[in-house]
Amino acid sequence: GTTIRAGEGILPLNNSANHDESVFPDADTLDIRREDARSHLAFGYGIHQCIGQNLGRIELEIVYGTLFKRIPDLKLAAPLSELKFKDDAMVYGIYELPVTW
Ligand code: HEM
Repeated sequence: GTTIRAGEGILPLNNSANHDESVFPDADTLDIRREDARSHLAFGYGIHQCIGQNLGRIELEIVYGTLFKRIPDLKLAAPLSELKFKDDAMVYGIYELPVTW
């Protein structure tokens, strides 16, 4: 809905596209069972897609599968409200994740 004139610059925010309510209903809720979430931009889009995304997906499957199998009672050691998220960084994440089991 915005006109971009020739010569004007834009700064696309890929991460905010993943929170687009018109594409992902209830977008701010973590739901790992979303049926139709294939159009996310976590790995980029088009010719600039992440070249390691298949390796990344397999690594995450192995890491989380192994972690929860070996430490089934793993849980947070601090209230969620006390965790410091990287709201100030280009790549989102968390500064520390205290856990216990
Ligand atoms: C969960 C893990 C990962 C995420 C979320 C991720 C995300 C991304 C994103 C967003 C881009 C930028 C796309 C753009 O230019 O707009 C990118 C590029 C790239 N990633 Fe990943 N990545 C992951 C894992 C990996 C792994 C495991 C490798 C290699 C072993 C890798 C190699 C690359 C390379 C080489 C590029 C540059 C591709 C290009 O510009 O042609 N990434 N990644």
